[in-house]
Amino acid sequence: MLERSALAENALQALHDEDYDRPYNTQALNHETMIFVGGRTPVSLDGAWNFCVDLLDTGLRQKWFAMQPMPAEERSEPWDYDPYEGDTVPVPSCWQMLKETWYFFEGSAWYTRPLDMPQDLGSGRRFLRVGAAQYDCKVFLNGAFLGNHYGGSTPFFCELTGHLRPGRNWLMLMVNNTRTLDRVPMRNTDWFNYGGLYREVSLFETPTSVIRDLFVHLVPDGSYRRIRAAVEVDGGAREAVLEIAELGIRQTIALGADGRGEALVEARPELWSPESPRLYAVSLAAGDDRVEDRIGFRQIERVGDEIRLNGRSLFLRGISVHEDDRELGKVTSEADLRRRFADARDLNCNYLRLAHYPHHEMAARLADELGFLLWEEIPVYWAIAFDNPATYRDARNQLIELIKRDRNRASVIIWSVGNENPDTDARLDFMKGLADTAKAFDPTRLTSAACLVNHARNRIEDRLAEHIDVIGINEYYGWYEENFEDLVEIGRNSDPGKPVVISETGADGAIGEGAPARGLFSEAYMTEVYEKQIETLRALSYVKGMSPWILYDFRVERRQNIFQRGFNKKGLIAADKATRKDAFAVLSAYYAERRDAEAGGEEMA
Ligand code: GCU
Repeated sequence: MLERSALAENALQALHDEDYDRPYNTQALNHETMIFVGGRTPVSLDGAWNFCVDLLDTGLRQKWFAMQPMPAEERSEPWDYDPYEGDTVPVPSCWQMLKETWYFFEGSAWYTRPLDMPQDLGSGRRFLRVGAAQYDCKVFLNGAFLGNHYGGSTPFFCELTGHLRPGRNWLMLMVNNTRTLDRVPMRNTDWFNYGGLYREVSLFETPTSVIRDLFVHLVPDGSYRRIRAAVEVDGGAREAVLEIAELGIRQTIALGADGRGEALVEARPELWSPESPRLYAVSLAAGDDRVEDRIGFRQIERVGDEIRLNGRSLFLRGISVHEDDRELGKVTSEADLRRRFADARDLNCNYLRLAHYPHHEMAARLADELGFLLWEEIPVYWAIAFDNPATYRDARNQLIELIKRDRNRASVIIWSVGNENPDTDARLDFMKGLADTAKAFDPTRLTSAACLVNHARNRIEDRLAEHIDVIGINEYYGWYEENFEDLVEIGRNSDPGKPVVISETGADGAIGEGAPARGLFSEAYMTEVYEKQIETLRALSYVKGMSPWILYDFRVERRQNIFQRGFNKKGLIAADKATRKDAFAVLSAYYAERRDAEAGGEEMA
């Protein structure tokens, strides 16, 4: 090996030290480092970034981030990768969709780009915002490690102030999507494990006193005439001014030494609902900082086994959706989302389950505008290291990041803390803690989880049910569970005393060349399952909604039979997001019937 340099020392260390990553797993970038971005103008850092896959973490071991840019002929020591040159990839993107050889790549990858600053950096503050990086993202600026973030679907911020220099800076993000035993989700899921910087990356410049958080909502006390605003400002401002001009509100909010404050104001806003998605322009100023948002005011509550919106019981006519695209992987766009909502409208939906992780923030913004209700969730999915405090810290942080990102969205009515988890003591503690956390950060919404039926006793009973407002039930009678009579018996046996939402049901239906004409995986059989499910579920009075699985066929490694070929085919629409299967019309007709009955004030059987 090399004998002549610091590299030699580091190179030997890099070969022999398997604790190399410990200093870079601080998780210092988390919900506490978020800032409020509504109304701010970001500098986009999207576009071409230098890129290299790094299966063995050679970059961390050899400290690629510490290399200085220089022409190859001037380098005095050999190197394995030069972050300042070579291939580039577009951001946002999932590396699996960019190159055949990267399709199943799981590991680390390095993204590098220049960041040019003015000669006078001024007195302001600068924050990097990453919309989402699947799963662990470590931030380096000019060779310095600034922190890392766990969680593949929530935004995070890294303050660059004080680390930037005038002129050229170099930003390096190392993203790792390896599935492990202590992550959330763990290592076994029924969706494709994409990787990369797959949502927008931006730079925000703010005054020294920055508004970190703003939560504005109708007080859920049934009066529909009180609005609460909670504010957090970092940097010394001692008051903030809230303005909602259309309601004649201009309210000064005193801030404590911790920069937090809140105010209650009387107002009678037009209420937001799917039928009338009324939004108000809201602004907040504190010191030299100013942010905006467009907010709908409504009340969602559970009363007995009813879900009530603005005091009126409703049935959630829903569909589940993944964030998945045949060409783009997990990257989404406004056009992709508008198509999703248009298809949901054609299904006569008023509700969508955004499974199994936080979707792009645009989804809730569009749902606010178009009038859809949403279930949002964190990927506490199947088996999780429920007895691992570090895993709980990760799950709790992802939940709080989701809530702080979306709690001004009227469309979001349910925070879900998990999906199909085994009913163990450790899981109960873990998920009760998450449900309590959701209420602590947002007492205005309902909590839920997609639970499993107790098949041994053919009943809806899950110990978590007493700690959540709405019981989600995933049941696949007609598909994974053969005997439909059991579903009827479950209906008779169960008296949950809370609203139940069938958070999943459905069947695979392949279409096109090679699809079976009948039997399992045929479109005909899928349609038959939908017809029998609807016939059974409509008779259960405590079922207050459903979100069948799923709107579109989606990519997943584990589905490899001759009809699936790497895709889950339970979509009502094929992976082309255009070809509708027969079951689409069956569900659409049922929802139209429910919608018209509700409009006419009739009770549905
Ligand atoms: C499960 C799970 C989904 C999965 C679906 C299926 O209920 O929650 O993530 O895709 O069933 O098996 O198709």
